[in-house]
Amino acid sequence: MTASTLPAHIAIIMDGNGRWAVSRGYPRFYGHIRGAARVREIVQECRTLGVRALTLYAFSTENWKRPDEELSVLWTLLRKYIRREVSELKKNGIRLRVIGEWSRLPEEARRELGAAMETLAGGQEMDLVFALSYGARAELTDAVRKIASECEHGTLRSSEINEATVESRLWTSELGRFSDVDFMIRTSGERRLSNFLLWQCSYAEFDFPDTLWPDFTVQEFRRCLERYGARKRRFGGI
Ligand code: IPE
Ligand code: IPE
Ligand code: MG
Repeated sequence: MTASTLPAHIAIIMDGNGRWAVSRGYPRFYGHIRGAARVREIVQECRTLGVRALTLYAFSTENWKRPDEELSVLWTLLRKYIRREVSELKKNGIRLRVIGEWSRLPEEARRELGAAMETLAGGQEMDLVFALSYGARAELTDAVRKIASECEHGTLRSSEINEATVESRLWTSELGRFSDVDFMIRTSGERRLSNFLLWQCSYAEFDFPDTLWPDFTVQEFRRCLERYGARKRRFGGI
């Protein structure tokens, strides 16, 4: 994989934890535990390869519909991940960001996430972005609200609104020139976006491996990247 065929921003919908567990006779939460272990490997691999931004869909606005017991396992796993990984992430120059309505998360999870983001704020090598309580429609609605409010206050004129105006009000704006997704992977064979990064994926390449997230190895990730490298991205040109 050469630098020119390596996606700068990879987004992953980590799907299939529940099915992985149930097909083995385990409760669904066990799939989340096994899935969390994969996060570490994929983050490390992206950093080694020189990927600039990795966005992981960990929890959608729609996932609030799930039973409380499942949600509490997810928050516990998130906190464990942060505690275990912060020093390694720091050593590797990785900056941690969160997109989504994460003020809805339980307080301890928010506190630990906030502290980890502060610790990792100086990371220059790669952005690791967790999408937590994230929904693209909520993000776009929020951007519209911000723009409308600026117009109301007279700090923005409607005639000046362009694509950059919208982009800079999205939650991904901190990623700067890497905010567009180059490569979107969804595991588990589902072929849908489930409300993930609608604006940012306008020109993304997509890959849908059948593998369930807890089985998604670095080797398989590399095969996805090879398929990406073989694509011709034309962006409307010839
Ligand atoms: C993805 O796995 C993880 C989260 C949504 C938190 P799922 O829990 O959706 O697993 P399946 O799709 O039911 O197998
Ligand atoms: C999308 O997966 C969200 C995450 C993987 C975090 P879901 O499993 O919630 O999506 P649907 O319900 O299959 O569309
Ligand atoms: Mg799912």
